[in-house]
Amino acid sequence: MTTTGSNERAEAVINLDAVRHNVCTVTAAVAGAEAMVVVKADAYGHGAIPVARAARDAGAPWLGVALPDEALALRDAGDEGRILAWLIVPGDPGIAACIERDIDLSAGASWAVEEIASAARAIGRRARVHLKIDTGLGRGGSSPTEWSDLLLQALSHGDTIEVVGIWSHLACADEPDHPANDEQLAAFQEALATAESLGVTPEVRHLSSSGAIITRPDMHFDLVRAGIIVYGVTPGPGIGPPWPSGLDFRPAMTVRARISHVKRVPAGHGASYGLSWRAERETSLALLPLGYADGLPRTTRGAQVMIAGNRFPVVGRIAMDQCIVDVGDAPIEAGADVIVFGSGGSGEPTAEEWAAWDDTIGYEIVTRMGARLPRRYVG
Ligand SMILES: Cc1ncc(COP(=O)(O)O)c(C=O)c1O
Repeated sequence: MTTTGSNERAEAVINLDAVRHNVCTVTAAVAGAEAMVVVKADAYGHGAIPVARAARDAGAPWLGVALPDEALALRDAGDEGRILAWLIVPGDPGIAACIERDIDLSAGASWAVEEIASAARAIGRRARVHLKIDTGLGRGGSSPTEWSDLLLQALSHGDTIEVVGIWSHLACADEPDHPANDEQLAAFQEALATAESLGVTPEVRHLSSSGAIITRPDMHFDLVRAGIIVYGVTPGPGIGPPWPSGLDFRPAMTVRARISHVKRVPAGHGASYGLSWRAERETSLALLPLGYADGLPRTTRGAQVMIAGNRFPVVGRIAMDQCIVDVGDAPIEAGADVIVFGSGGSGEPTAEEWAAWDDTIGYEIVTRMGARLPRRYVG
């Protein structure tokens, strides 16, 4: 596809000052522990490379990603700091590639320890490994019953594996009062005690993601993994904004577009596929050239956007490339600037509001903004 590189139709504006500010806020909040900035999934839709650079500028000693390829892309872009990649599959060529490029790997199963050890042996370099214990989430990681076997297995590969981390992930970090948080903390502490009794003393122990970074200082250990708060979006409805005192996370993504067409329609006129909406009175419909191919959720109900300082409803179904805004009698013309969501500071909707309109979480709203939506970096 030949592109003009134009952002006239629509764009996601990423404020890297906000990213840097949020990284500094995390760093200050976890004083005593280090911060890992999670840049998986293209930095939650914000662009992994620019966000990683901003995070490093702000002093982040660690970056975290899910996939080896995501880590390798950071190395290709010149990042030389500590990176952890935590999602590998058997036979993953990313295992050897990560060891070669000095990227830490996670292992939570015996096959992973074996494959990392044999890749490290073939390369002639010791792999840095974070052993993962499943403390209750039910995703990756060793079950508590297999934990000491996993530790012993890793120890038996001491020539090829250096256990630098022990870690786990919370199921309910977004619900501070959920009893699972304390249960997982207790399970994690037990796993650490078992490791210590076997002589494994890792450089970093890590459990907290955003929700626990804010609400559970007792879970910070040596390292925290900060994702969504780096992007200024809430990890859970009760957590902020308003943020607890001393914390101020600023949204980094603004999605804006320009109206491509405005037309006057009579009462009873429908809008979009299925005609699920009809005008109650004569009104003006403005066409927003942004649809589910750009990342707007098709299942959204009751969404709003801001045009010329006022909010207007998105009406009818969101289509692949476009959706319709009922602007009533407002003097809106083709070319008008639309803020789909942003910081909320000027009254525009936020990612959290879009999440509520689609019965999802802010994470999904920012992460799903598609490749077709050009990113523009400011700050
Ligand atoms: C293992 C792991 N750690 C940390 C994070 C960051 O979580 P959050 O964005 O809530 O900070 C994630 C994100 O899903 C994750 O999968």
